Amino acid sequence: MKTYLLSNTHFLTNLIIQLLYILSLVMLVRSKSVSFTTTLIHRDSPTSPFYDPSLTLSWRVVAAMNRSFDRARVFSSMRSGVTNIFPNPQLANYLMKISIGTPPQDIIGVADTGSDIIWTQCEPCSYCFNQTRPVYKPRVSSTYNTTTCGSTTCMSVPVRSCTTNDNTCLYVVQYGDFSYSSGELATETVTLDSNVTGISFAFTNVVFGCGHRNAGMFTEDQSGIIGLGGGPFSLITQMGSSINGKFSYCLVQMFSHVERSSKMYFGDAATVSGDGVVSTPLFSGNPGTFYYLNFEGITVGGQRIDFYTTKPTLVEGNIIIDSGTSLTLLPESFYNRVQSAVRRSMPDILPVHSDPQNNLRLCYNPLEVKDLPVMVAHFNGADLELDPINTFVQLSNDSICLAFAPVDGVVIFGNLAQMNFLVGYDLYKKTVSFKRTDCVKL
Ligand SMILES: *[C@@H]1O[C@H](CO)[C@@H](O)[C@H](O)[C@H]1NC(C)=O
Ligand SMILES: *[C@@H]1O[C@H](CO)[C@@H](O)[C@H](O)[C@H]1NC(C)=O
Ligand SMILES: *[C@@H]1O[C@H](CO)[C@@H](O)[C@H](O)[C@H]1NC(C)=O
Ligand SMILES: *[C@@H]1O[C@H](CO)[C@@H](O)[C@H](O)[C@H]1NC(C)=O
Ligand SMILES: *[C@@H]1O[C@H](CO)[C@@H](O)[C@H](O)[C@H]1NC(C)=O
Repeated sequence: MKTYLLSNTHFLTNLIIQLLYILSLVMLVRSKSVSFTTTLIHRDSPTSPFYDPSLTLSWRVVAAMNRSFDRARVFSSMRSGVTNIFPNPQLANYLMKISIGTPPQDIIGVADTGSDIIWTQCEPCSYCFNQTRPVYKPRVSSTYNTTTCGSTTCMSVPVRSCTTNDNTCLYVVQYGDFSYSSGELATETVTLDSNVTGISFAFTNVVFGCGHRNAGMFTEDQSGIIGLGGGPFSLITQMGSSINGKFSYCLVQMFSHVERSSKMYFGDAATVSGDGVVSTPLFSGNPGTFYYLNFEGITVGGQRIDFYTTKPTLVEGNIIIDSGTSLTLLPESFYNRVQSAVRRSMPDILPVHSDPQNNLRLCYNPLEVKDLPVMVAHFNGADLELDPINTFVQLSNDSICLAFAPVDGVVIFGNLAQMNFLVGYDLYKKTVSFKRTDCVKL
């Protein structure tokens, strides 16, 4: 195995400590930036800790719709200023493997663009949920270090406290369903395996939570959470200049292809270029966890529906782009106009119904529908052509439904709408780019 070691600070100290590990099998590269690919596991794929073979496809789809609404509720409280709450771990859609420590200890965590902090269960456990993999042991790692209470790192954590004996910074992070993790705020070397077998990349001094008390809705084969949001302690932000502020993902078509892994790219590998690329400005907002875009409207069957009926003079980020919410959630009045336009674009005689939970309001019988409309989502500077796989979801043999829903609160561009696009974030240029791609083929 080769490991490319990347350092932000304490390079020399760490170099010495890591030398033993490095000398055995590893190549040290001093290059400032890296480029690599890793794998996202869908929560419903057979390799996921959440996988339950007894669930029917239809149940999984309905559960994903339910999660969208629960997640939107947590996002709304985050937006309204409730700090230190993140979406329930059960509500995310993807998982990722990383390693922590020297030598590396494997972690399978929920990878969530709606969450900022990386944490893992950590020995000694005062209270841990059952975990099938070994719990991370800081004692056997040469690169584990705690942070001190007065440090700027510690001061950036919204809910923190301090040990009385040695001034160690303690964190608490909570989730919308009252799950929580607390423990030492620490730094470690985090290693990600690239898609090229045997090559991995090590990032030193990554701030993470060594969780001694963790409880709530976690599953046994999960060790913690890997925050991919925009906050200071997310994995993305901490990789920072090493990846030139660039990451991208390509999500394979959900439900029909969940057994295939989706890909996530970092650094130059995350560049989205070539024919058919469209780009739109990326905004930061409050909370800084989310990635915000400017949404301008949708065209259905040739009819454009503007998001604003009177154009505001200044709009900076009126929609969150999220990989963990399946549905696209829209304000009620705008949703109603889109729904009417979709109905108008379909033959009049087709009967419509809403799904039994009344989550999705415009459903057709798949046997009666010949063609579903192509829609175009308009972002500032980017017209994104959405295929029916992006805009409709088959709930059962009787129902294929518009995968948009009305909400009160945050507006979210969901992951069904992003399936089979390469979606690239450039945090330095502040853009998000889209390119139609068959993600299974990557
Ligand atoms: C979805 O939510 C509804 C309403 O809360 C509930 O009755 C149903 O059991 C849920 N279904 C799944 C599959 O989670
Ligand atoms: C954890 O696992 C042990 C042994 O397998 C079991 O006895 C215990 O009930 C489990 N605890 C929880 C909370 O599931
Ligand atoms: C741990 O952190 C302290 C304070 O930042 C620093 O002085 C020390 O060198 C670090 N130790 C290691 C092993 O990195
Ligand atoms: C790894 O990803 C890169 C793109 O980042 C691609 O060019 C390469 O073919 C991939 N290799 C494997 C083994 O999948
Ligand atoms: C849905 O259709 C498939 C294929 O036609 C069939 O195998 C399955 O049993 C049907 N499911 C239900 C719930 O009727």
